[in-house]
Amino acid sequence: MFESAIKPGRSPLEGEILLVLVPLPRLRGDFLEGPEGVLSEEERVRARAIHHPASKGHFIATRSALRHVLGGCLGVDPKSLAWSYNDKGKPRLWGSAENKGWVFNVSHSGDHALMAIARDLKIGVDIEKVRPRKALEPLAKAILTPQEASRWPLGGEELRTASLVATWASKEAFLKATGHGIAGGLKSVAIRPGFDGFERVPPSEGSPDLWQLHLEALNDYRWALAYYGPRHRIVGGRFDLFDDASFHG
Ligand SMILES: CC(C)(COP(=O)(O)OP(=O)(O)OC[C@H]1O[C@@H](n2cnc3c(N)ncnc32)[C@H](O)[C@@H]1OP(=O)(O)O)[C@@H](O)C(=O)NCCC(=O)NCCS
Repeated sequence: MFESAIKPGRSPLEGEILLVLVPLPRLRGDFLEGPEGVLSEEERVRARAIHHPASKGHFIATRSALRHVLGGCLGVDPKSLAWSYNDKGKPRLWGSAENKGWVFNVSHSGDHALMAIARDLKIGVDIEKVRPRKALEPLAKAILTPQEASRWPLGGEELRTASLVATWASKEAFLKATGHGIAGGLKSVAIRPGFDGFERVPPSEGSPDLWQLHLEALNDYRWALAYYGPRHRIVGGRFDLFDDASFHG
């Protein structure tokens, strides 16, 4: 799904969701100050406050890529985009972009970011790297409902970890679509066997049958997309910051 670069300016058509995978490069910390940087003042302040160099670079790269891709979709200058946030920190487009129904959600893990863009849709995306976990059982207890736990595959540590991470990503994608985030409760939502949609969602979020779940493996990552409404066509592509002519980090 992510083999080819997305065409500059590619927008999701009616009934489509555009998914964009962004390999996160290591960035020079000083590029923030350069004239070509597209981040807002608020984002620069936030980036400067991140001490861990890799996390700082990933934040900068993700926001820069988001601005370039969304700017292309909407046909506007990436610098002109503005966000507002709900009380749990979910960003959404502000101003005329919001009025036109444009929505997005972003996730990052390891050295990848994934963004989903659509129109008039409640949408959430999550990507998680599968890596060995010291405390797998306690993590499973925090994530899985009793029914899900009974279906958690027996077998090697690797298989169990991958299955748990897939469930985690699916639930987080849902909680990000609702905007509640983790505060919404990982056990407030249950995944159908085979990741075939949602078995249970909080009553305030409508019927579980109207929620769509798309889960995929990407090397040692698992990513999930959740949205509310009829099934959409998912169109994927890559965006590489340093291939973009308008970006000179
Ligand atoms: C959102 C949340 C699920 C992210 O989990 P994560 O796996 O660590 O992070 P991801 O990489 O998947 O997603 C992070 C992105 O999701 C978006 N996001 C943040 N809060 C969100 C929310 N409540 N719902 C949906 N998306 C959210 C942002 O774009 C964020 O990117 P940024 O950090 O570059 O701004 C988790 O951090 C959370 O629940 N946060 C809410 C905390 C809260 O309640 N804050 C209240 C005060 S603001």
